[in-house]
Amino acid sequence: MKSISLSTLKTMKSSREKFAVLTAYDAAFARLSEMAGIEVVLVGDSLGNVSLGYSSTVPVTMEDMLHHTRAVSRSNSKSLIVADMPYMSYANEEQALTNAARLMQTGAQMVKLEGGAWLETTVCKLTERGVPVCGHLGLTPQSVDKLGGYKVQGKGAEDAAKIVRDAECLQDAGADLLVLECVPSSLGAEISARLNIPVIGIGAGPDTDAQVLVIYDILGISPRSPKFAKNFLAETGSILGAMENYAKAVRQGSFPAEEHGFS
Ligand code: KIV
Repeated sequence: MKSISLSTLKTMKSSREKFAVLTAYDAAFARLSEMAGIEVVLVGDSLGNVSLGYSSTVPVTMEDMLHHTRAVSRSNSKSLIVADMPYMSYANEEQALTNAARLMQTGAQMVKLEGGAWLETTVCKLTERGVPVCGHLGLTPQSVDKLGGYKVQGKGAEDAAKIVRDAECLQDAGADLLVLECVPSSLGAEISARLNIPVIGIGAGPDTDAQVLVIYDILGISPRSPKFAKNFLAETGSILGAMENYAKAVRQGSFPAEEHGFS
């Protein structure tokens, strides 16, 4: 695989080629992701749930994210490396700039923030200073306590319209990618069609420009498998094979199937 940049991903969107995103938290999985040709590796704060044993992403700290981003970036020089900004690390613009700089200096090539229009000036400031930003809308796990649980978002017309407005606002502020989590498949399709930037879905239906899954979910070793995930290890018997089959299924459009989406 050649090195993936943001312009690679934008060209893929314009030529309607789908790409695959997987989480990784350590050197071993980062190296396998590169071997499997995964275009984007996300050092997700889901590491709190799947690797550190927390019940949510809220306890994950900047130190945790720096530690794991360092390990991933040392072992994968081809995929684009995106790092999550953890809970409250971007509560104001000053903090966002300082903490994003720390992640970028550790090896991230882009940072991901959860939230909509309230992040407009933060996203503007980060992008003006040369930090690429990935937005994250729909189910935003850092707000799980406010949302009242891990629930599908944007089901009603008003909520859906707000997510569309937030997505356009983040794009206009300078975001280069957008993750859309747990929304009805029709909303995933609408937002992907409206935006010029690539939209990466997770539980957002088959029509987004890319898909992301948590690595442990494609290996079937998470305590609970979400409806939107699929165990690719079962059909291949090797971790590398599971990653390759996941990427192939995303590119061919055979994953996600209807049963992985929400209405
Ligand atoms: O933290 C994470 O892994 C994520 C993805 C599930 C989108 O944000």
